[in-house]
Amino acid sequence: MSTDFLDWLDHQQGRQYELHARYINPIFVRMLQTIGFDKGFVRGQGCYLYDAGGTRYLDLLTGWGVFALGRNHPKVRSVLEAVLSRELPNLVRMDCSLLAGLVAEKLTSHTAPHKDQPLTRVFFCNSGTESVETAIKFARCFTGKQRILYCEHAFHGLTTGSLSLNGAGFFRERFGDLMPGTESVPFNDLAALDRALARKDVAAFFIEPVQGKSCEVVSDGFLEDAQTLCRKAGTLLAVDEVQCGMGRTGKWFAYQHWPSVEPDIVCVAKALSGGYVPVGAVITTPKILDSVFNTLERCVVHSNTFGQNDLAMAAALATMTVMEEDGIVENVAALGDYVMARLENMGRDCPFVSEVRGKGLMFGIDFKRPENSFKLRAAWDALHALNFGVFGQMIIVPLLQEHHILAQVAGYHTEVIKFLPPLIVTKQDLDWFLSAMQQALQDTLRVPGAAWNTVMNLAKGAMRAHGV
Ligand SMILES: Cc1ncc(COP(=O)(O)O)c(C=O)c1O
Repeated sequence: MSTDFLDWLDHQQGRQYELHARYINPIFVRMLQTIGFDKGFVRGQGCYLYDAGGTRYLDLLTGWGVFALGRNHPKVRSVLEAVLSRELPNLVRMDCSLLAGLVAEKLTSHTAPHKDQPLTRVFFCNSGTESVETAIKFARCFTGKQRILYCEHAFHGLTTGSLSLNGAGFFRERFGDLMPGTESVPFNDLAALDRALARKDVAAFFIEPVQGKSCEVVSDGFLEDAQTLCRKAGTLLAVDEVQCGMGRTGKWFAYQHWPSVEPDIVCVAKALSGGYVPVGAVITTPKILDSVFNTLERCVVHSNTFGQNDLAMAAALATMTVMEEDGIVENVAALGDYVMARLENMGRDCPFVSEVRGKGLMFGIDFKRPENSFKLRAAWDALHALNFGVFGQMIIVPLLQEHHILAQVAGYHTEVIKFLPPLIVTKQDLDWFLSAMQQALQDTLRVPGAAWNTVMNLAKGAMRAHGV
């Protein structure tokens, strides 16, 4: 049966764009084709993707950060195969899953390594956004308060509750009224946070220690001070580590870069299952969890159907074990410093580079209008008169087409390009990326030149698509 299925699948190869255009999202297919990202990848292994012609691509997008251990990690796969062959009593629901208990034990060994630390309870779900929805409910239930604060430029997911904490108008527009009682504060602005907490009616302050959409990092001292303000105001500190957690920044969780920070809630997802199976988790304290599940009648008052499923739990156990045994977090810390220092050096020679920022292997480049060159400024202005946020494609498109490196901009309507390498990436892979970046950045200085032609055509195409 499985050989028949794989033969059949091989015969279908090449139909993906036609099928997606017909059944799934035609405009997404058009976007891929416009920027030449319709590569038809057929295989993924470790840090690389392969197209049908066997060309190897370095994957610095990692499925938006899920493939911490690269694609198809052999140890994780073998654990999944073993679990499938065991005919385990998956999702009984009126019983307790051993695998879920073991994942909770391992996960909390990293949030509460010492006995007196309180982040020892875990709620499992199926995605990042579901972990945020859960955190919102837990915070409101525990505090009895309604308001939720989030940061400008924040991204916490796209379901209605987490979308209400989204710091970009673009994602919110045209979806009607969102959750009431939410309010943004500028990122890294303690005084603004203090003012927003003044009425003591805020259930939680949500923050990504490294923002996914901007690559901004919380400044030293901010989380500690925010925690003090929150405690004074009876507000929970909810840290969204969906993207920046699980070793991505060179610590198991990004908040741990500041040792005295002890959040009340930590949201995790993405890399927790090594990219194999959708998963999410909320790690919190006994007090908070017990306030939600406080009577026998309410023992599953917040729940879901697929949370704690065997495949997600086995993948999570295997992923965390590999991370521990292979010193993955230490690799990230060392290589993150290396790549950011090299990029910062390069950025000094390119007047379009405003800042290189991030932490560990979550880093990005922000671009700006150049100050000192009339020719470059005129090219920037001409492009921005057509379209804001397409400049990054001048780097991203040649990275893929000429250097076989997959990456993307950090979000919509932003000048930031972002990189999320697999955490198993080697220095050799990063040198491949760095020499490609050197060339791509230099090409932006050639006006007129091929890179500018490409991006001007993209901007004009986008205007035509909008009927302008
Ligand atoms: C910080 C953060 N929170 C939440 C989410 C939502 O996760 P998911 O796409 O799994 O719903 C994301 C997704 O990119 C994220 O980066």
